[in-house]
Amino acid sequence: MTELRRVGILTSGGDAPGMNACVRAVTRTLVTDEIEVVGIRRGYAGLIEGDFVDMDGQSVSNIVQMGGTILKCARSQEFRSASGRELAAKNLADAEIDALVAIGGDGTLTGAHLLMQEHSVAVVGCPATIDNDLTGSDETTGYDSALNTAIENIDRIRDTADAHDRVFLVEVMGADAGFIALNCAIGGGAELVLLPEFNTDMLHIKQRIQSLMAAQARSSIVMVAEGEGLGGAPAIANALSADPAFDHIDLRVCVLGHTQRGGAPSARDRVLASRLGTGAVKALLDGITGVMVGVVCNEIRYTPLSGVASSKKSINYDLLRLAQMLS
Ligand code: F6P
Repeated sequence: MTELRRVGILTSGGDAPGMNACVRAVTRTLVTDEIEVVGIRRGYAGLIEGDFVDMDGQSVSNIVQMGGTILKCARSQEFRSASGRELAAKNLADAEIDALVAIGGDGTLTGAHLLMQEHSVAVVGCPATIDNDLTGSDETTGYDSALNTAIENIDRIRDTADAHDRVFLVEVMGADAGFIALNCAIGGGAELVLLPEFNTDMLHIKQRIQSLMAAQARSSIVMVAEGEGLGGAPAIANALSADPAFDHIDLRVCVLGHTQRGGAPSARDRVLASRLGTGAVKALLDGITGVMVGVVCNEIRYTPLSGVASSKKSINYDLLRLAQMLS
């Protein structure tokens, strides 16, 4: 690789709490090594439009505690095309940017991998998504914060569910992965959990709710991952309401949605993001590119982007058994 003089940073895809801590860590580590830093606004969309801003240590003051991302995020359709990526690579070359740190989830890292493959751009990825669905890191930045936000809301729902003797279907995010839902089921004490990783069985849901009612459980929480197969909590609630056997059951739906993406990052996410950001710069300085930085068993690890893009992290079956046993 050529000498590292100027490095670009972007945050892309869905935002995740802790992205700012990662931007800060990348920036300050580069500045310490006297390398110029270029912020790229709105992810790959900004890369294609040349929406660049010079950054220094001061640019990232007072952001470690902030949710969202000062660089902003976008989901760029244009970057999905070869011509969009060609323009992105040209803009990097024109701005004399020697390497790129891409902070985001699977779409972002897949995009970084394509930039490297097609245009030999030196890239390193930092995993940041509330979904926690990337192999190569035990956790992704944003996941712990989202989980805590969801649990806090589930506790509140539990109070009102109990006061009214209601069954609540609570839907959490996670795209096609059930990490948030499964861990919320354990931490929030849900009576049933529905995950994208398994077929949702309507008959099982009905039997479970009816047996809870028969056992004098007056209120219950059903944890629903947004990606489960029947269309999420509203669709399941409609199907239950259409069954006369559920006429006497007071059912409500709460979709937590984007509340899980906002808010201050947890302490754990701030530390993780800081480690990943500094780890990304260290990789570049060591001439390691085309990788995602991760933390596995509390140690920094580099996983080739090809492996990250092609494999899916599986859920922990011990946790699933635990959720079922304790419910
Ligand atoms: O990937 C993060 C995520 O929050 C998913 O959990 C969710 O399915 C999706 O993004 C929502 O995306 P958008 O903000 O574009 O609606």
